Amino acid sequence: MDPARAPWYVTTPIYYVNDRPHIGHCFTTLVADAIARFERLQRGVAAPAAASPTAAPRDCFFLTGTDEHADKVVTSAAAHQTTPQAWADKNAAEFAKAFAAMGITNDDFIRTTEARHKEKVPRYIEKMIARGDVYRGEYTGWYDAGQEEYVTETAAKEHDYKSAVTGKPLAKRTEPCWFFKLSKFAEPLARHVDAHPEFIQPDARRNEVLGRIKLGLNDVPISRPVTDDPATQWGVRMPGDPRSRVYVWIDALFNYLTAVDTTARRHLWPPAVQTLGKDILWFHAVIWPALLMSVGEALPRTIWSHGWWLSEGRKMSKSLGNFIAIEQLEAYAGRYSLDALRWYLLTQGPLGANDADFVHAKFVEVFNADLANGIGNSTSRVGNMVGKYFDGKLPVDAAAAAPAGKAAGSDWAELTKAAVAKSLAALARCDLPGALAPATELVRQVDGYINATQPFKLAKLVAAEPAKKAELGAILANCAEALRVAALLLSPAMPSKMGQVLREWSCTPPSGATLAELVRLDGPHSLRAGTAIAKGEILFQRVEASDPPPTAATST
Ligand code: MSP
Repeated sequence: MDPARAPWYVTTPIYYVNDRPHIGHCFTTLVADAIARFERLQRGVAAPAAASPTAAPRDCFFLTGTDEHADKVVTSAAAHQTTPQAWADKNAAEFAKAFAAMGITNDDFIRTTEARHKEKVPRYIEKMIARGDVYRGEYTGWYDAGQEEYVTETAAKEHDYKSAVTGKPLAKRTEPCWFFKLSKFAEPLARHVDAHPEFIQPDARRNEVLGRIKLGLNDVPISRPVTDDPATQWGVRMPGDPRSRVYVWIDALFNYLTAVDTTARRHLWPPAVQTLGKDILWFHAVIWPALLMSVGEALPRTIWSHGWWLSEGRKMSKSLGNFIAIEQLEAYAGRYSLDALRWYLLTQGPLGANDADFVHAKFVEVFNADLANGIGNSTSRVGNMVGKYFDGKLPVDAAAAAPAGKAAGSDWAELTKAAVAKSLAALARCDLPGALAPATELVRQVDGYINATQPFKLAKLVAAEPAKKAELGAILANCAEALRVAALLLSPAMPSKMGQVLREWSCTPPSGATLAELVRLDGPHSLRAGTAIAKGEILFQRVEASDPPPTAATST
């Protein structure tokens, strides 16, 4: 099967419903969204109309959702005089709303309190038990209640027996529980990571994880006791042991499988890409694949982790209260457009092994350089010239104009082809800035071509030398065609603005057209003589460097 056509599945972590959506959650989900949109662009399939647990099976599938069985949900619900389920419902809806505001096109939104998930988790654990990978024991360790996880003695000591995340004191706990024989999987896992360099990405993270796996793995508890405390009664019960519930992380990890473990979606397994932040890489790159080996499922192709956003140079934390909340992101989208926000996050974000800083001045700089002076200016120049000199209709087929470009030193057929190839090669490495850069480069090349060929000067000569009109038309057809390809390649990051350009230039891709077909100069979708190229609205209005940061509406 053509790999580009094979079923394809991308996931994000599922988010704790106790938090309010912030830049961290929105970023991981946005990365998955851009990757999913690139994938759909390649296949010529439209985004889903709405997220749904029963949506018709699609070959290209994007899942996000919420992690709802944390103890904190019970305590917070009580503090708000409501039930855990009602509290989870309310907060899950906040995440769905935040993602809609970010233009996220997930096919489904899974919640761990849904029956479709809760019913399947014990079935997987039964399989693990049947394989002899689960045993009864007692666990003593330092528990970080805020993070719902035990930390090792070394890590606890390193942070003075306080949570590395919340700063609150850790609690020493001993409890009876079921263990998963993670140790048994150290070798097969190390072999898998060694043999599949793409399995853990970026490379720096793979080396870190592999180093730790090779030191050997300890078995991990996968259950917690159920007591009289209502907080312990929330969650999925261990099969055959109503006094134990499945540890929230194990419950949560299985969401990726439960969502597609249905007759209609089974073909989607395993995921092509699982996106997540570096803080939860160990769970995803070690525990998760070991669970999958135990239940006999194929492993995901790539576990791709990103770094962290800092805010104006400082780590975001609950204690500092400096999280960039969804309201702040919406304020940016309101002032500069959602697409500009997406662009900034996707091109300047912590997409490799390093962290990145959200700095307002940088946002403005990137907005002006890449958007207002880049694609925005270039499309407006070309649209204006076609309007002025050719009544808004392209005078010649782009394919017929190509030789004129080549003669002037710009081989547009080659340049656009190379841009697409470079973009897709970067995408295959989940390198989003790298996947978007070739389009920005194309825009720069168009600007360079305009400067070199000076169509505005040529236009002045047309009255005296009518033959120049054909030359002018060819230049503009070349520019418009290159910008059409750039707009297509930029559309996963900026779907709305690029959709606007393609619409105004009468070249919205018809459904079913693959990227390969769309970008071919000698194909059915290249710009033709007579195509209406509207001047259109200004895409991105240049902003002053001194523009102050937008202020968020107060959060509820
Ligand atoms: N519920 C678990 C995941 C279970 S997946 C089976 C969890 N949830 S979370 O609500 O804490 O969100 C985790 C995601 O948000 C991670 O991808 C994490 O990296 C991301 N971020 C949280 N803060 C962040 C930043 N400051 N910067 C970038 N992303 C960060 O963990």
